[in-house]
Amino acid sequence: MDWAAGYVVDTLCSPGFYREMAPAYAGFAALLAGRPPAFGEEGPRAALELGCGVGFGTALLAAANPDGAWTGIDFNPDHIAAAEAFRAAAGLTNLTYRDAAFADYRPDPGAFDYAALHGVYSWIGEADAAHVGAILRDGLAVGGVAYVSYNAMPGWAAAVPLRRLLAEHARRQPGTAAERAVAAVAFARTLADAGAACFAGNPGLTDRLAVIAGQDPRYLAHEYLNAAWRPLFHADVAAELGAARLTHVASADPVDAFPDLTLAPELAELVATRPDRIMAETVRDLAINRGFRRDLYARGAVTLTSAERLERLMATRMATLVFPDDLRLSVRTAAGEAAADAAVARPLVDRLWRDGPQPLSAFAGGPGGTDALLAAVAVLVQGGQIHPLARPADERARAVARRFNGAVCEATRGGRDPGFLAAPAIGSGLPAGPLEQAVYRALLLRGAGCDDDAALADAVLPELERAGRPLLRDGRPIADPAERREELRARLAVHRARRRPVWHALGML
Ligand SMILES: C[S@@+](CC[C@H](N)C(=O)[O-])C[C@H]1O[C@@H](n2cnc3c(N)ncnc32)[C@H](O)[C@@H]1O
Repeated sequence: MDWAAGYVVDTLCSPGFYREMAPAYAGFAALLAGRPPAFGEEGPRAALELGCGVGFGTALLAAANPDGAWTGIDFNPDHIAAAEAFRAAAGLTNLTYRDAAFADYRPDPGAFDYAALHGVYSWIGEADAAHVGAILRDGLAVGGVAYVSYNAMPGWAAAVPLRRLLAEHARRQPGTAAERAVAAVAFARTLADAGAACFAGNPGLTDRLAVIAGQDPRYLAHEYLNAAWRPLFHADVAAELGAARLTHVASADPVDAFPDLTLAPELAELVATRPDRIMAETVRDLAINRGFRRDLYARGAVTLTSAERLERLMATRMATLVFPDDLRLSVRTAAGEAAADAAVARPLVDRLWRDGPQPLSAFAGGPGGTDALLAAVAVLVQGGQIHPLARPADERARAVARRFNGAVCEATRGGRDPGFLAAPAIGSGLPAGPLEQAVYRALLLRGAGCDDDAALADAVLPELERAGRPLLRDGRPIADPAERREELRARLAVHRARRRPVWHALGML
């Protein structure tokens, strides 16, 4: 189809939510780099998602940040139709979708103080990238921030021949993009098994092919079959967006603010001693063979002094997302494993659980001083263990979240499974599988304070059976109905003690 310029349009994107796009998370990453966005804890007043797909991520952010006006645009009308249907079901009044191509969309000058594109920038050609630049140039207010993620070099270098093979094979096949992607992957497998030297000659390619073989065909279609596919170097994206008068302010991954956490000392030194930030990022990407970047670009940012940065960081309030016994101290990052100092992280999460959200200043004076505190906090935030607070979740915000989350649960019952619930106190979402969503739905029906695990089990069990998701023990469905009910009651008791307090604290109920 001409209007799509070779972009896949016959296979809808799968619904997705990416927590790095949440304004509080992105704002914290930028603050760690000393260049925070103009919007503070209260979040953006107007935000834009470019290439919003079926809109689930935009809708979740609108639900979790109800004080802002959110706009999602996409040129696939099937995406916008699906997005609009879900928006209506979720009752969101602060969200508008636009059925528009990047080439045609003209924002009002300075209309937005936050913009985001996920899974878009490497899958459009240079002309559309320039249109994206123009939208950001005109639409982003001074002090506004744009989140941009993309497939990066050098991490994708070895996969260039595989991607080309998949695209060429798929071009010659009948069927939808998803069907052609599956056929192309099967052919690549045949070629690898027959001993094609390209697989031996490009380290990691055989492993990548094995991973691809298990992935959602909708994802494969959008990842590999678009006419444009540009794994990009940081320097090139910084130049393209620089032409739109945007400056790179930070990686959206908080751990990246602490190179020593993930890089060997020799490499950290080589990064730290580069003459400018573009070169430092280029060296760092080679040091870790980075294949995906999440970056924050600003339309003008104030560079804080180190005293100002520290003051703002220490005033940042954090909430725990986990029960202390469930705390995970390490996180897998693009640069490998990063671990938080247990002596700092454990008391911090204990206190957040016991006393509720606290500013980081409440933890000053601990072992290792401020540097150790901030490094541990960065690891815990990136690891999904704690989160910076957004504006307080008042009753109105809770009501918006309940309605949205109820619609998520209904979508899951209908077989869609978006996988996240909105959490307004952090302006973001928490992962929730079918069991948790069945519990959430039962709590909406019975009252958020319901502590009758037996009654909840009676409500939840038929939902799991209806969805064809039997309760498992040791990987096998529990056959005996009484045992099944007992097992579920036990799990609900744990959930009541460890998970529901988080839902309450984050304004989800
Ligand atoms: C891989 S999807 C990402 C969807 C969503 N951001 C996510 O991460 O789940 C890329 C989206 O960009 C849209 N898109 C691609 N080229 C576009 C263009 N030129 N104008 C508007 N939307 C475009 C596609 O229709 C698709 O929905």
